Amino acid sequence: MAISTSATGDGWSSRSAFILAAIGAAVGLGNLWRFPTLAGESGGGAFVIFYIGCVVLLGLPLLLAEIFIGRAGQTDAVGSIRKVATQSRVSPAWSLVGGLGALAAFLIVSFYSVVAGWVLYYVGVFASDFFGALFAGEPFRGALQGQSQEQIAGRMGDLFANPWLLLTMHLLFMGTTLIIVARGISGGIEKAATWLMPAFFVLLLGITIYGAIVGDIGEAAAFLFTPDWSKLTPEVMNSALGQALFSLSLGVAGIITYGSYIRQGTPLGSTALAIGFADTAVALIAGLMIFPIVFAVGLDPAAGPTLVFQTLPFAFESMPAGSLIGLLFFVLILVAAITSSISLLEVPTAWGVGEMGWSRTKSSLIFGVGAFLIGIACLLGYNVWSDVRPLGFWSLFAETDILDTVDGFTGKVMLPLGALFVSIFVGWRADRRLLESTTGLSPIMFTIWRFLLAWLCPLAVAIILVTGLFPSIL
Ligand code: PFF
Repeated sequence: MAISTSATGDGWSSRSAFILAAIGAAVGLGNLWRFPTLAGESGGGAFVIFYIGCVVLLGLPLLLAEIFIGRAGQTDAVGSIRKVATQSRVSPAWSLVGGLGALAAFLIVSFYSVVAGWVLYYVGVFASDFFGALFAGEPFRGALQGQSQEQIAGRMGDLFANPWLLLTMHLLFMGTTLIIVARGISGGIEKAATWLMPAFFVLLLGITIYGAIVGDIGEAAAFLFTPDWSKLTPEVMNSALGQALFSLSLGVAGIITYGSYIRQGTPLGSTALAIGFADTAVALIAGLMIFPIVFAVGLDPAAGPTLVFQTLPFAFESMPAGSLIGLLFFVLILVAAITSSISLLEVPTAWGVGEMGWSRTKSSLIFGVGAFLIGIACLLGYNVWSDVRPLGFWSLFAETDILDTVDGFTGKVMLPLGALFVSIFVGWRADRRLLESTTGLSPIMFTIWRFLLAWLCPLAVAIILVTGLFPSIL
């Protein structure tokens, strides 16, 4: 029996449906692309251990705070915060934080879809390679046979130089996201998550086992888990903190929005724990999947953002069944990306439904098409508009192209601001009895949670914000 709890009359049909969808939202390009990139660039172990600390001390309390707001408010992020504020007898102006989050989610989905479009392109590259191998009677051969490392790496340059190809991929990805969101919670988002997430985990474990067999898992584990504390610079700490927020989907009201569709009586503390644990486990497993393959071929783990798109495809060339594994690998990333992008588009869509009274179809169309258009500007920034610097007057973004500007502004400014306000709102302003009855935490857990939320989170997030905006301080 589906119990709908939200103002829009739709909701998750069970607790496990919510957990799966929220894990789907959290696990995305952040885990499979950004985490290995940062861990590789930052020298591995010390970054990884500090990151885990950030998740436990900061991420989990904030995750619970956002789930609490959604569960108590039961409508879009703005309406939910307004309701909690009213019940707590504090200013309803706090609801602006929900508006800030919805705007951030709208901007993030615009470039997220462009990056997911690159993944889609690589799915196409590896699909044609694999089916070519299959028809040639060699389904288990390495990928992209006979191509040099330069040729393989060059594919990314070819893609970036071709606005029409980028646009097609972006259109396909955003269109799929839009269709799922337009179908609503139980009929669209939940169905997508319950099909895609199990497929995701099967692929993830399968490729990790493959990497362990043909690659060098010992070296990868040593790289990821042996800390060299001298590498833990303030910049590395800052990026680990920011990555923890991004990976857990915090600060953009995504978890508030998903939390509003939860049924009454769901234990929120253990739910937050399950989501945080799964997200972190996937990031670590992604490291244990990617680095054995990178090390086996003697490639550079610190390749940066191109690690997944250029380094890894080359590694697949000399691996047994590399063609098939390459295809599965990019399908895996695509699945993770789509369950995240639907959660991003859902935030402004729910706002349009809850606050503006639009139908779900109208709201998702307005924001989906809007984000698509901003995404077009982002992808043109790689070719026809390559010298456009949208925030060029600001020294921090003086050299930054369109996509990186939208990414940098949301990640460095909007997301930490959102997380900062949420921690202050729930840590200091929300009514204690409402908090206790909604979360259902034991007294000890409640005290620890409130302490971390009221003191550690605002402090740490304020540090990310200030050092992110004024890097010269570090
Ligand atoms: N957590 C997602 C990832 O790691 O890729 C990104 C994201 C999704 C951020 C949804 C925010 C959000 F609301």
